Amino acid sequence: MDALELRRALGRYTTGVTIVSCVDDAGGYVGLTANSFNSLSLSPPLVLWSLRQESPSLPAFTAARRFAVNVLAEAQVDLSRRFASRIEDKFAEGVWAVGEHGAPLLAGCAAVFECETVSQQMTGDHCLFIGRVLACAESALPPLVFRAGHYHLLGEVL
Ligand SMILES: Cc1cc2nc3c(=O)[nH]c(=O)nc-3n(C[C@H](O)[C@H](O)[C@H](O)COP(=O)(O)O)c2cc1C
Repeated sequence: MDALELRRALGRYTTGVTIVSCVDDAGGYVGLTANSFNSLSLSPPLVLWSLRQESPSLPAFTAARRFAVNVLAEAQVDLSRRFASRIEDKFAEGVWAVGEHGAPLLAGCAAVFECETVSQQMTGDHCLFIGRVLACAESALPPLVFRAGHYHLLGEVL
């Protein structure tokens, strides 16, 4: 399997963009841009996402037991770029507050899911997290779209 060929083919699968966040042992906010988020089950309500095992954020997410998935609106593309970088203090931009279930929530998102980790599994070069949704919310804001390595705005409904 050619890695570039695989990346290019996977990139054709168009997704939304999220910032997945948690609070670490010291009370600091931890988060990153992720498009591996997906729905898994409605009853019980489960979602999944994966984090590369080399990520410096991995220890915080494996210890936290709670995480939030902030589904970005198209106006939040700069935050997506910020949280996909190694910049110090990613949370200095955006309006953040810890939600009822103990994970940082971003204001102005298209949707948010507050989750409790029910499974974490090292698979390949990533850690697969499955979370039970404890609370969720949505807004009418158009979501940011990611395809083939580029950000897009949502197109027309057919
Ligand atoms: C659109 C987009 C989606 C991404 N999805 C993921 C993902 O699902 N899992 C992951 O581990 N990294 C993903 N990344 C890369 C991380 O955002 C990036 O490596 C970031 O630096 C990780 O934070 P860290 O330095 O704390 O590991 C994505 C990047 C972009 C731009």
